[in-house]
Amino acid sequence: MSIYVNSKKRTTGATLIIFGASGDLTSRKILPAVASLLDQDQLPNEFSVIGVARSPLGNDGFRNLVRESATNIESIQTFIDNFHYIQGDYAAISTYQSLVALLDSIERTRETGKSRLFYLATVPDLFSTITSLLGQSGLSRNDTSSFTRIIIEKPFGADAASARSLNSEMHRSFSEEQIYRIDHYLGKETVQNLLALRFSNAVFEPIWNRNYVNNVQITVAEHIGVGHRGGFYESAGALKDIVQNHMLQVLSLVLMEAPALMTAESIQNEKVKLLSAVEIPPIPDIVNRAVRGQYVAGVISSEEVKSYRQERGVSPTSQTETFVAMRLGVDNWRWAGIPIFIRTGKRMAKRETQVVMEFNRAPHLPFTGGSARQLGPNRLILRIQPEEEIKLIFGAKVPGQDYNIRSVAMDFSYADTFREVSWDAYERLLLDALLGDRTLFLRSDEVIKAWEIVDPIQHAFADPNFPLHHYAAGTYGPKESSRLLGASGHYWNNI
Ligand code: BG6
Repeated sequence: MSIYVNSKKRTTGATLIIFGASGDLTSRKILPAVASLLDQDQLPNEFSVIGVARSPLGNDGFRNLVRESATNIESIQTFIDNFHYIQGDYAAISTYQSLVALLDSIERTRETGKSRLFYLATVPDLFSTITSLLGQSGLSRNDTSSFTRIIIEKPFGADAASARSLNSEMHRSFSEEQIYRIDHYLGKETVQNLLALRFSNAVFEPIWNRNYVNNVQITVAEHIGVGHRGGFYESAGALKDIVQNHMLQVLSLVLMEAPALMTAESIQNEKVKLLSAVEIPPIPDIVNRAVRGQYVAGVISSEEVKSYRQERGVSPTSQTETFVAMRLGVDNWRWAGIPIFIRTGKRMAKRETQVVMEFNRAPHLPFTGGSARQLGPNRLILRIQPEEEIKLIFGAKVPGQDYNIRSVAMDFSYADTFREVSWDAYERLLLDALLGDRTLFLRSDEVIKAWEIVDPIQHAFADPNFPLHHYAAGTYGPKESSRLLGASGHYWNNI
């Protein structure tokens, strides 16, 4: 059996089994990641992929999907016979019997070993059915000479109670160590760099607390709409689609204490501690802390785009939010009393994910020039995407006789500094799961904690009297989101 070597790490042959193989996520993210890893020679020769779905694709149809996902057709073409497809009902045991037979035959003829990585990329309603049938058909068993792991997509549950019951259902077939709950934000280099910035530098740590930080802002702005995912989005909304997972993950990495080691357990422990300290406001108070919005028609990059309610699969009277802004707090020694503002929205003016640490202003400005008084506060801006940058904003003297001070920026850009290719988040996470590294995946208690923060907000949003503000596509969200900050004298950092 050959061994794949990725700098220091190595994995052996394995089969990746994708449930939901004809779906959007498979063709947009998973297959391109597999194709790119193959192209970069990051996967062993004894690697196979089985797609499982209801559509009548057949091996040929599935292989065409793979070809369409690849940027380098040649590298895929030599490997294409190792992609297989099973058409079947996810709830029928016969589908799993066919899978057992196909796996046996692949593993016998190609000597891939018995290592199997299942990937649940279906709609969430099917997660527990599939895991339980994998268990019943003996496919969840782990033996000592190989591995059996399962990657499960978000959303993991729809609230804390359903996430808890999904956990217990999964634990009937798989142990916690076999389960890899994915949040693709953790696979992004710049998200991982939050830890490097905080914990490899002595200069930031002393000021990373309530004594120096005035407020923290996290923005995940998207310019895309819901596309053809309207049906799914109607039951999710921005709160469940982005806040519960991506935003709370970024928030915990930015605000947590230093882990003792860079191990999955150490990091997950710190994230859970931080999430446990997030202040959960009483439901009647949420209306004063949260703004929800929905986009109406507007213009993005000179193109007219339709309103959310006109999207396919969306009700013409939909009350689903496509924008959320909130003021949160963290009740611990480091952050007590410091506002943490978060916002996310679809169809915003631009795509930008950033974290802003805004520091207290200088206690006294000895300069007589008027411009010093208008000087903005020092800000450290961590830009996660699309440009991957870190910017420090500070005051500098404008050349000339007077002491005119202006805010200037010191920039670090990933692209300008590093020649190494940044991997796509899905490539990184897929490889980590094959290697058995759970550092960038979510532990069960972490997911529950995140739901416990979001549940009361969901509850408040379900009240028909909770305001839903409309905003034109191509803007920065409803003006109420600026008012939310304005109430305490703060304002959003421009994106
Ligand atoms: C997904 C959401 O998890 O993240 C999508 O379901 C969203 O609605 C996407 O568009 C954003 O990911 P990225 O990597 O483009 O910021």
